[in-house]
Amino acid sequence: PLVSTADLVAPARAAGRAVAAFNVITLEHAEAVAAGAERAGRPAVLQISENAVRFHGGDLSAVAAAASAVARASRAPLALHLDHVVTPELLHAAHAAGIDSVMVDASRLGYGDNVKATAEAVRWGHARGMWVEAELGRVGGKAGEPPLDAHTPGVRTDPAEAVAYVAETGVDALAVAVGSTHAMTERTATLDHALIAALRTAVPVPLVLHGSSGVPDAELRAAVRAGMTKVNVGTALNTAYTTALRSHLARHPAAVDPRPYLTGAREAMAETVARFLTVITGGPDR
Ligand code: G3H
Ligand code: ZN
Repeated sequence: PLVSTADLVAPARAAGRAVAAFNVITLEHAEAVAAGAERAGRPAVLQISENAVRFHGGDLSAVAAAASAVARASRAPLALHLDHVVTPELLHAAHAAGIDSVMVDASRLGYGDNVKATAEAVRWGHARGMWVEAELGRVGGKAGEPPLDAHTPGVRTDPAEAVAYVAETGVDALAVAVGSTHAMTERTATLDHALIAALRTAVPVPLVLHGSSGVPDAELRAAVRAGMTKVNVGTALNTAYTTALRSHLARHPAAVDPRPYLTGAREAMAETVARFLTVITGGPDR
């Protein structure tokens, strides 16, 4: 069934558990998240990112309708979320498309401008019953972004600044920069667990880990124990998809019908989803 992000995140936060969110680009991604969630016996969030909307020609409605239909048909509770919204137009489009959960990303701006843009988005969203996540610090690594140095001030999230940011913006959840980076294809990131714990103690709203594809299992488990409530995974699904696709086409160079290779690609993503869900949420029997 289709549920709301708030319905998944609030009880998880209260119980010291985490919710996993997976990026959706194609229909097969959404179907794979549903299959993986059913297999693991856990809920999940279907996340459409601003990049994916651009891939679909800039119109959110078709991909939102597809993801929502997949969620409604699934045996697993699945929420719908729009990730990395950088313009008010896309925020408004999310509401129009029936998506009530968004991440507003003004992290490229300085502190004051980030607060201003985010507070405005939160005011607009809350007036319409939306759940709004935002980012303080810089996770970085998204296509077209310059590489970040963790030692540059403002890159890692500062706990005292995070407390002020949440108070000034009114966000429902906070994406923090604690050592992960977007779009990693190797799982070699090391997280600052002391910083996560300090943020968890200081910040009154759930914390969100972005760029989790590059974070090893043990680091993910430790991050959840230290206080991460929402864990976002994207690239790992694409790695599984493309690896399966490449291997199928190498074995069947004359293949024309996409269904056999998309079946394999979708199944590889579903297995990846189930595996991450088990790590992030502690498995089906929790
Ligand atoms: O917003 C997307 C998520 O943070 C996923 O990042 O593709 O590096 O796993 P990832
Ligand atoms: Zn992200």
